[in-house]
Amino acid sequence: MFFILPNPQSIADYVSARLVDLISTKPQAVLGLATGSTMEPVYDRLTAQVTLEDIDVSQLITFNLDEYIGLGADHPQSYHYYMSEHLFNRLAFARHKTFLPDGLCVDLQEQCELYSRKIAEAGGIDLQLLGIGGNGHIGFNEPGTSFQSRTHVVDLSAQTRLDNGRFFASMDEVPTQAITLGLQDIIEAKQIILVATGNNKAQVMADLYYSAIDENMPASIIKQHNNAMIIVDEAAAKLLPSEACKPLIATV
Ligand code: F6R
Repeated sequence: MFFILPNPQSIADYVSARLVDLISTKPQAVLGLATGSTMEPVYDRLTAQVTLEDIDVSQLITFNLDEYIGLGADHPQSYHYYMSEHLFNRLAFARHKTFLPDGLCVDLQEQCELYSRKIAEAGGIDLQLLGIGGNGHIGFNEPGTSFQSRTHVVDLSAQTRLDNGRFFASMDEVPTQAITLGLQDIIEAKQIILVATGNNKAQVMADLYYSAIDENMPASIIKQHNNAMIIVDEAAAKLLPSEACKPLIATV
C-alpha cells in the first residue's frame, strides 16, 4: 500500500503516466481531482505529457474534491481558480464536464446532494487523486468525520486553516468553511492514489502508517480499499520503518 519514489518530480512522472494510461484505455474516464501544493508538479507533468503525446482529454469528466465556501471562481485562492490555472486552461478539457462544488451556492444542502448524485450518474470515479493534510484529512474531511459521509459542508479545523493560511494575505481571509466530497464518496472510487511529499508530511505519514482504520485519521479509510496506493517521496517517508514502503519504478 505504501510506495516510495525519490522526490516530487519522480512521483509526478509516475502519476501522470498512470493517468495517461487510464485516459488512453478509457477516454471518457471519470477523474477525481485534488488541489494543493502536492498536486502542482503532477498537473505540470500531466500537461506536458498530454501535450507531447497528443492525448485527447476532451471526453474526460472530472470532479474536484472540494471548494471553500464564500470564494467565487475568480478568487485566486478558490479551487476553481487553481484548477483553471494548473490544468483546465492548459489543455482541451470540455469545461462543461469539469465539476467543482460551488462555494457561492445559496442552497448548500441541495448542492451537496446533487454533487454526490452527479458522480453516481457519471458511473462513479475511475481514479481518485488525493493529497493529505497534516491532521490526516483527505478532501476537507477533518478528523472525526463519519466514514459514511457524502458531500457535505465542513467547519475547517484550526490546523487546516493555519496550514492553508500560507496562500492568503492574512489569517482573517482564510475561509472557515468548505464543501467536500465525503469519505464514502471517496472510498467508492475504483482506484485511489494518495500522494504525500516533503518533510512536513513525514509525521502524518507515520501517523497514518501506524493508525488503525479509524475516523480520527480520515485517510486511514483507504486502507480498506483494494486498489489504493499511498505514494511518498523520501522526505515524507523519513519517519516510516524501512520495510514499510515498496520502491516504485517510474514508468517514464
Ligand atoms: C485539496 C484537498 C486537501 C489537500 C491537502 C494537502 O483539494 O483535498 O485535502 O490535498 O490539504 O494539501 P497540500 O498538497 O497543499 O499539502
